Amino acid sequence: MQGKLVKLRAYEKSDADALLRWFSDEEVTRWLGPPNFPSRAQQEKFIELAQASGDDAKYFAIETLDGKLIGDTGIRFIDWKSRKAEFFITIGEKQCWDKGFGTDALRVVIRLAFDKMNLNRLWLTTLADNLRAVRCYGKCGFVREGLLRQESFVDGKYRDVHLMALLREDYDRTRGA
Ligand SMILES: CC(C)(COP(=O)(O)OP(=O)(O)OC[C@H]1O[C@@H](n2cnc3c(N)ncnc32)[C@H](O)[C@@H]1OP(=O)(O)O)[C@@H](O)C(=O)NCCC(=O)NCCS
Repeated sequence: MQGKLVKLRAYEKSDADALLRWFSDEEVTRWLGPPNFPSRAQQEKFIELAQASGDDAKYFAIETLDGKLIGDTGIRFIDWKSRKAEFFITIGEKQCWDKGFGTDALRVVIRLAFDKMNLNRLWLTTLADNLRAVRCYGKCGFVREGLLRQESFVDGKYRDVHLMALLREDYDRTRGA
């Protein structure tokens, strides 16, 4: 699946080093919640899980159009009865932040979720002070639905978290369906 700046592809075994580097980098993980300190074995296990995932989640590596691996995205907790899922994303290569890659990857996932999977609601949570992420989600039509007070303990402080979502009807309206 391809956007204007990125393509999404399935994970490969050889992606483990990049994943380990990203998710060991505090400048990246600081935006994802309490630290995790992953091992290479955990990243390899994640890739196996991602490759085997079926109805409950879809995991993708994000590549630039010229084939450079830059991040991780997808949807999880797919609920087929209520037709909803949680969106997640990390552009792990910090030098690629603020260049439109995250927004483009999100737009590709939105098309997958609504046009191909016929979901009705995409939701996500983000630290309230993650202004880059909030801006990226807002550009794609996500609306803030709630504030989870002191939801996440990061950098020695309890931090507020936004709950945001995009409904199919909003997506249809913005693309004139
Ligand atoms: C959040 C993330 C996915 C966004 O992807 P990205 O490619 O960096 O974002 P984009 O370039 O598509 O869009 C970022 C927007 O935020 C804006 N922005 C950046 N810093 C900002 C700030 N401090 N305040 C307000 N807006 C800001 C940019 O200017 C841009 O908006 P614009 O296009 O109107 O100029 C990516 O930065 C990332 O993975 N960060 C680390 C992990 C993370 O935060 N994951 C999300 C967890 S919920």
